[in-house]
Amino acid sequence: CGIVAYIGPKDATTFLLEGLQRLEYRGYDSAGIAVLGKGGALKVCKTKGRVADLAAAVPARFKGTTGIGHTRWATHGVPSDANAHPHTDNADRIAVVHNGIIENADELRARLTAEGAVFTSETDTEVLAHLIFAHAAKDGELEDAVRAALKLVVGTYGIAVVDSAQPDRIVVARNGSPIVLGIGEKEMFAASDVAALVRYTRQVVHLEDGELATVRADGFRTFTEDARTVTRQPSTVDWEVGSYDTAGYEHYLLKEIHEQPAAVERTLSGRLDERFATAHLGGLNLDARELREIRRVKILGCGSAYYAGEMGAQLIEELARIPAHSEPASEFRYRNPVIEADTLYVAVSQSGETYDTLAAVQEIKRKGGRVLGVVNTVGSAIARECDGGIYLHAGPEISVASTKAFTSTVIAFALLALHFGRIHDLSPADGRRIVSGLRALPGHIREILGQEEQIAELAAKYADNAGMMFIGRVRGYPVAREGAQKLKEISYVHAEAYPASELKHGPLALISPELPTVALVPDDELLDKNLTTLGEIKARSGRVLAIGHRAPEAKLADHCIVVPKSEPELDPLLLNIPLQLLAYHAAVALGRDVDKPRNLAKSVTVE
Ligand code: G6P
Repeated sequence: CGIVAYIGPKDATTFLLEGLQRLEYRGYDSAGIAVLGKGGALKVCKTKGRVADLAAAVPARFKGTTGIGHTRWATHGVPSDANAHPHTDNADRIAVVHNGIIENADELRARLTAEGAVFTSETDTEVLAHLIFAHAAKDGELEDAVRAALKLVVGTYGIAVVDSAQPDRIVVARNGSPIVLGIGEKEMFAASDVAALVRYTRQVVHLEDGELATVRADGFRTFTEDARTVTRQPSTVDWEVGSYDTAGYEHYLLKEIHEQPAAVERTLSGRLDERFATAHLGGLNLDARELREIRRVKILGCGSAYYAGEMGAQLIEELARIPAHSEPASEFRYRNPVIEADTLYVAVSQSGETYDTLAAVQEIKRKGGRVLGVVNTVGSAIARECDGGIYLHAGPEISVASTKAFTSTVIAFALLALHFGRIHDLSPADGRRIVSGLRALPGHIREILGQEEQIAELAAKYADNAGMMFIGRVRGYPVAREGAQKLKEISYVHAEAYPASELKHGPLALISPELPTVALVPDDELLDKNLTTLGEIKARSGRVLAIGHRAPEAKLADHCIVVPKSEPELDPLLLNIPLQLLAYHAAVALGRDVDKPRNLAKSVTVE
């Protein structure tokens, strides 16, 4: 979900709608705004659907100089006009927008109903509006009413609140869901993500968990839940405004796929050491002696971050010869995991906000474990919670499906594995081989992107099927999993990933001309095994699209995409690039909403 807020001399509506447009990738099933007009009258407009639907629904005379807005990804209650934010109390005095989850909403709702409040939605957020109203009605300052209400709340939140009785301020609060203030000239902004702000200001203040702020046109004051004032220095956003635009590409996804060579260069920048054939990772906060004591690596993430972790685990095992394994953070946190002192835990997250991943980190830390973060968003919740880590520097990723952050994550793991390996048993010669392999990757990726037209033609040929099988062996298996994930996320074509070695133990029964197979067949020690599997598929009249380093015989594959050869350990990263283009062009051919696939959101900040 996304939050925006404005207070200043201008018309708030314009900023709110533009800001919501920028945050739409975070949730897009309903949207709404509330503004305070002359004399403090509260006007609310909200609707099921996209921000464009909201913009069309806003009446011409909907004006105000103080306002808040929201774009939603439904958790409590279906997407509907009534469930869209902002939510108000029964006197239409208070309006609230909220990201996160109020865990004791049912209990608070019962209590407020008993006191006379009438609920008009199924959301947990509405309790906040009634609760803040109840406190504000006792003649309180808005900030005191919000503080008092939040004391009764269990859960996570980023909120923005307006009060028609106090139109000169907006109160925001953060606990587990980000809030950023933007400082303008005699105007102030707030949002859940800097993406909404960069067009208007580069001076921002990130609230910490447990903090609130009163925002007025001419400034702001930050304080804690106990009303203690805290001083926060503004920082300057360093990502370019342009990195939040599509830059002439038809979709963010396509732009981000093409940004990969530059993103990889940034992830590598200043970290490779030719002389000692290793990588320097300043943020790990672990010295060589501590690293030598590590006996196991456990990687945690969700969605594509989890699959990137699988590639990472492979790299660490191969280069550092330390057992490594990736697991969905969403599963790990619920199974009372054993936390070991000599295991290094690594949390992976593009956004740094995914709640399941954050909860896993907190569980590990509570049990005394050590966690590193592999994160794209600087200063995000997961990055702050970890003991150290590696920032990706991939730049903002807007499209819901991850591409450049995925690739940069695998690069970060290659650096970690190299660093780790050189402390353990990786020889200088092998270290040098990996260093130069990494240096060559941006060029290799450019080469693959140069084949886009051919891949688009193949995508159109294969998109027409009800399903697709993705197979790969060992290093190729995580590639197959991520390839299948990308296809299903954005094209809604059913896709299943299987280890090629397991095909004959079950899924071979599915093979038919209607279920084509994408097969990863790199030129490595398993090539012959993979070719045998292709033969088995062809013998059952299956169609095969092979991705590898040279075209297999025509009787083994119907089509082929050839990628440049890197070092064997790094090949998976390159084999994945054509699968991104394949999914993208399949989705385009099917007329899908590529950047905002149905039912999904970029960052899932709820359980
Ligand atoms: C959501 C997105 C996925 C993403 C996952 C993890 O489910 O739809 O595309 O991979 O979150 O996101 P993170 O920001 O933690 O990497």
